[in-house]
Amino acid sequence: MLDSYAVIGNPVSHSKSPLIHAAFAQQTHQSMQYTAILAPLDAFQATVANFRQQGGKGLNVTVPFKLDAFQLATRLTERATIAQAVNTLKFENDEMLGDNTDGAGLVRDIESNLGISIATKRILLMGAGGAARGVILPLLQQRPSLLAIANRTPRKAEALMEQFEDYGNIYPYHFMSLNEHFDIIINATSASLQGTLPELPGNIFTHAVLAYDMMYGREPTHFLKFAQLNGVCQVADGIGMLVEQAAESFFLWRGIRPQTKPVIAMLKSQL
Ligand code: ATR
Repeated sequence: MLDSYAVIGNPVSHSKSPLIHAAFAQQTHQSMQYTAILAPLDAFQATVANFRQQGGKGLNVTVPFKLDAFQLATRLTERATIAQAVNTLKFENDEMLGDNTDGAGLVRDIESNLGISIATKRILLMGAGGAARGVILPLLQQRPSLLAIANRTPRKAEALMEQFEDYGNIYPYHFMSLNEHFDIIINATSASLQGTLPELPGNIFTHAVLAYDMMYGREPTHFLKFAQLNGVCQVADGIGMLVEQAAESFFLWRGIRPQTKPVIAMLKSQL
């Protein structure tokens, strides 16, 4: 029987994970299958148990179950513990290991694919929800000179700052000091999903080397268009992060690191 993996979510039919992992498996000659599982909103645990009973080896977890997976895991990596969310489950004997590969995926995309070192950079992270929380520790571990967090609801940015202040130079940002400049500006809000962008002054992009949107689509998001209009050097959407977080999950399950560049190119050509 083939080793079996899947992405579990609701909805899940739009997920590109089956395509990505099929490409990884083919490229690395791994005998495995990877499917998509739609779990009822009130039956995540039972759906996972069922998959496991049928011999499943691991799962990618997507919206809205990352917190449920965090609670279900019997063991957690440090990055999952701190993110308080799990996007990867690995079943081994009686254990269910929970990991979070999102932040590592973002860091790898910025550093390896886009060729921009995070160390010593001034970073602005927009958003204070699950997506933002998942990338803070991996970003701080690269030793940026500072990480500012701006959010529509400021108290949530303040709460994140309190949680992460021992890990690096992090502070909540309110766009008060308009002369402040940032090198890398990351959109981790869900505004792009709504076809809008978070409120922010255009001049923060003037000296920035990179505007990064964790969302992606056929067209550049409003956030990326706004950044370009205001003079940012480079823009990137979340396709690279999506493939890199998948590669990190694949590595956790199979012990092999697939090549990501051809898979990113394939996905971009299919958007
Ligand atoms: P996710 O898991 O995708 O992060 P979430 O936890 O619901 O989803 O968080 C969504 C984030 O996007 C929040 O930071 C939210 O801001 P609030 O905390 O003020 O709600 C932000 N967000 C969503 N829509 C937005 C919009 N139109 N403009 C600005 N920020 C937005």
